[in-house]
Amino acid sequence: MPAAVVVGAQWGDEGKGKVVDLYSEGADVVVRFAGGANAGHTLVLGDQKLVTHLVPSGVLHPGTLCVLGAGMVIDLETLTDEIAECRERGLLAAEDLLISERAQLILPYHRDLEAIRESGRHAIGTTRRGIGPAYESKAARTGIRPADLSRPQILRERIDQNLDQLAPLFAAHDIEVPDDEKRSRLVERLLTIAAPLLPSVGNAGRRVADEIAAGKNVLFEGAQGALLDVDHGTYPFVTSSTTTAAGACSGTGVGPTAIGKVIGISKTYCTRVGAGPFPTEMDEEVQKVWREAGGEYGATTGRPRRCGWLDLAALKTAVRINGMTSLALTKLDVLSGRGPIHVGVGYETDDGVMDELPVHVGGLKPVLRELPGWDDDLRGVRDVSKLPVAARAYIDTISDHLGVPVGLVSVGPGRSETIVLERLFS
Ligand code: GDP
Ligand code: IMO
Ligand code: MG
Repeated sequence: MPAAVVVGAQWGDEGKGKVVDLYSEGADVVVRFAGGANAGHTLVLGDQKLVTHLVPSGVLHPGTLCVLGAGMVIDLETLTDEIAECRERGLLAAEDLLISERAQLILPYHRDLEAIRESGRHAIGTTRRGIGPAYESKAARTGIRPADLSRPQILRERIDQNLDQLAPLFAAHDIEVPDDEKRSRLVERLLTIAAPLLPSVGNAGRRVADEIAAGKNVLFEGAQGALLDVDHGTYPFVTSSTTTAAGACSGTGVGPTAIGKVIGISKTYCTRVGAGPFPTEMDEEVQKVWREAGGEYGATTGRPRRCGWLDLAALKTAVRINGMTSLALTKLDVLSGRGPIHVGVGYETDDGVMDELPVHVGGLKPVLRELPGWDDDLRGVRDVSKLPVAARAYIDTISDHLGVPVGLVSVGPGRSETIVLERLFS
């Protein structure tokens, strides 16, 4: 059974947590492969709610192995808190957790650096979790990895190297470079906090590859979304990692032939948190109505999300860069009673209409089409044939435009509030 990847197809917050939790029912292994605690994935089961930031969203299913892959950037303090929250709920037994020895660690000074940058005029509205600076350290080859935590002397040498490289940046921002004593205290703190985690640190790439070879059901859980991808997103207003399906391979340690299915998740409208171009953004007054109807506030930072119409041209880009085999559409219930629906099908330029996101997105004027809306409450619907005609027509318009089948439609935050058209693991 080849593995499946679930990725966000927009600017994040598409409902990955809900969909991954649902599909984890049949999964033996769930792997996070990119990003860090910039992610906030909401899982709703009955009246219980859990927001995962680092731990994979398969965590509600006891016995499912939860892997934090090599492509991630991990803040050990946040991870420790998250594991404690899971264990209080009787979740995530020690044997169900595996942390890649090759992932990168976010250290307190990565967050400090980002806080200073983000208070300047080049701010892009990051989550301020130290994500960008930690990936910079990785690319600069001075990053600290979980493997270093079991070798105190090497850990200290690595931290010295990392800080020596960052020293000019610290100086430029008037931040004090940690002296010898502060470095020693940092090493001590890291060793203390890492001690209970060390038994869970290992060769995650090898383990996931072995599970796939043994015919186990492996699910890769993306973070962020295609349009935040560092190479193919709305650069420079992006995150610092590969958020697409290809990242599942490099961010775990398996090859592309391991992947069989790529499920892209999209809301039936669009949101974005933080700065950056957003061609189909609604007028501010209209946004307010949608924000309340959809509960559009960040799961990590609580920031209000910007709202816009579904952008099929941006989604077409997401389909291509992910090699998407099916679509999961979420929040269809939020459209009920909202009146006619608008949908972006391209961008007007001097050379005609563009059907994908170009390299410079700022100032683009979207070409919008109007479709009929509906008033029916959809949260009880479990069968496509029971949806209002206009809702079915909307789903067909999206699928036809993109040439990708719809495998799941979500009509509420709960696990059961779902119309499943494609089973992932039979
Ligand atoms: P993620 O980052 O992609 O996992 O998404 P978030 O958890 O940040 O944001 C999605 C929000 O929408 C969460 O509050 C979910 O509980 C909620 N949600 C997911 N699917 C649906 C749906 O179909 N309808 C409604 N009304 N809410 C949904
Ligand atoms: P999930 O996994 C929505 C956005 C930030 C900012 C940009 C860079 O829950 O979908 P970063 O802290 O990564 O350097 O911020 O990316 N961003 C997200 N937006 N959902 C996310 O994750 C995000 N992770 C980062 O708001 O615009
Ligand atoms: Mg989120």
